[in-house]
Amino acid sequence: MFITFEGIDGSGKSTQAKTLVSTLQAQGKSCIWTREPGGSEGAEVIRKLLVEGDPDRWSAETEILLFNAARRDHLEKTIDPALRRGATVICDRFVDSTRVYQGVARADLRPLVDLIHETMIQREADLTFIIDIDPEIALNRGLARKSGEDRFEDMGLGFQKCLRAGFLELAEQHPDRCCIIDGGQSIEAVERAILHAYTRVTS
Ligand code: TMP
Repeated sequence: MFITFEGIDGSGKSTQAKTLVSTLQAQGKSCIWTREPGGSEGAEVIRKLLVEGDPDRWSAETEILLFNAARRDHLEKTIDPALRRGATVICDRFVDSTRVYQGVARADLRPLVDLIHETMIQREADLTFIIDIDPEIALNRGLARKSGEDRFEDMGLGFQKCLRAGFLELAEQHPDRCCIIDGGQSIEAVERAILHAYTRVTS
């Protein structure tokens, strides 16, 4: 099974993705955690180009190509081999981030994102958790981390608000696999909501 976590910057999805991996591993399931951009040696090199530096460093079109180059390597080297072994793959961001960040918020490029995805990637998640949270809270949380990977956070609050709307619209387009989780609750309550939804889908 291929499970993805999505949401705006600072939504808490990375913590939640790792918690779900630990929970499933504790149940004896074969399960790996991975992330985008990154998740393979080559894709991690591309990641640095994308998340560091000036917001104007790349156009939205160039970003689409870079994210897809990273994704193709990630798919070939990490995701597909794990799925073939029968492992559950839990991925922190995937193509839905490109659909919303580059396809909606950075520019109106959703058809281009879909075309490249259909041509070069094809893979879709079986289950996608969208962690929904107030952009103001999330942005302050994200910037407070001072991770040095703030290129998209530096695009500002208006950008994060547009992302949130984009993710909610995406969930409406794919109700079969998308599950919106209220990220404004306590971490424990978010964990419980995710596990509940996972159990409902897999049992
Ligand atoms: P992360 O901070 O969740 O690791 O993600 C890195 C940044 O890259 C985050 O700000 C979202 C952005 N991003 C895109 O713009 N498009 C994509 O396709 C992906 C995977 C991430």
